[in-house]
Amino acid sequence: MATGRPGDREPETAIPDRSLVLTDDARFAEELAETARARRGRLYCTDPACPSSLATVVTEVNERSFAGQGQLARHLRVISNGADSRDWPQPPPDRTRRLGELAFLAMKNHTDLLTTTATVGVLVVDGFVDASPSPYGSLVTALLKSFMWDQHQRPYISVVTDAPELFAGLDEFGREHGFRTPFWRRDIPTAYYRAGTRHFPRLVPDPMPSCSSPLADGSVIVASGGARGITAAVLRELARQVRATFYLLGSTDLSQLPTEILEDSDEQLARRKRAVISQARQKDPNSRVAEVARKFDQWERARETRATIDRLAAIAGEDSVHYIACDVTDPDAVRRAATQVLADGRP
Ligand SMILES: NC(=O)c1ccc[n+]([C@@H]2O[C@H](COP(=O)([O-])OP(=O)(O)OC[C@H]3O[C@@H](n4cnc5c(N)ncnc54)[C@H](OP(=O)(O)O)[C@@H]3O)[C@@H](O)[C@H]2O)c1
Repeated sequence: MATGRPGDREPETAIPDRSLVLTDDARFAEELAETARARRGRLYCTDPACPSSLATVVTEVNERSFAGQGQLARHLRVISNGADSRDWPQPPPDRTRRLGELAFLAMKNHTDLLTTTATVGVLVVDGFVDASPSPYGSLVTALLKSFMWDQHQRPYISVVTDAPELFAGLDEFGREHGFRTPFWRRDIPTAYYRAGTRHFPRLVPDPMPSCSSPLADGSVIVASGGARGITAAVLRELARQVRATFYLLGSTDLSQLPTEILEDSDEQLARRKRAVISQARQKDPNSRVAEVARKFDQWERARETRATIDRLAAIAGEDSVHYIACDVTDPDAVRRAATQVLADGRP
């Protein structure tokens, strides 16, 4: 086990050249300062106890947090001290909460982190409470994991270790770096090191217990939000267990969209989007990206809704699945939906 005194060793692979290094611990900042300087990196610390001679100290995260520092960052490293998690279920310390916010802002502000050679790494040191990973550490591992899921196949390295010393954690992080090619293709791209042994989680299907469903064959299920997301997945499982009639409510009105949007292949849709952008630019070079993005979001929601209806119908039968466009925040729309369900006469 490494002892972790500053200068004991160089974290060679862990902090590459021109890294943006963020930490929530003043002691870590002290241990990292020399390496960050030598690698032409930038060091930020959200712990107010950190001297400003070592790092840019961030006591409040806002759009100006990275102001005046230029945009260049070839790599991002987010390093948290998980030791405070022993206070769980107390809220996390402000400096750890700020670290999550700062990491988010770093990804938002540094477009160079989106290039194919950039790597993003998270390390939570002393990151276990008894046998469980630190709940506070999840503030950074979960945030960047979501980002990486959005940016498919990006080099993301995330390590939670029970090692109490920074340099021991950096060693394990460097080791993880060696595994990285298959690593970031997994569902949960975080490795957990306990007593030097590497563990990683795998998602496995966990079917709902078939005997505990309160629903019988012939039930009518009205599912608000049932046409997308988690509720759609739950409904599919229910449909495997009982013969039911499903009414899915969503605010997306499929009848308002041209049918091609719903039927296009992914490639056709991508072409359609490119055409819309270029038409918008021709019409008005200053046309707002946000408006076009809203339109595309609506298309994506509608396609997901259509796909959910089809998948559920394949299990429950076409006549047993109904979609009602209904904004559930609008009492009149809810009344109309209820009237439609009752008029069908199935309950
Ligand atoms: N995803 C998870 O793993 C998970 C886990 C635990 C808890 N949850 C909770 O479960 C809920 C759904 O999460 P999700 O991830 O499935 O979200 P999602 O993918 O965004 O789905 C939300 C659903 O709600 C519908 N909806 C939203 N506003 C509506 C409105 N005003 N009227 C009618 N329908 C509306 C959406 O349809 P339209 O877009 O057509 O309106 C969509 O079908 C959230 O409260 C979330 O916090 C999710």
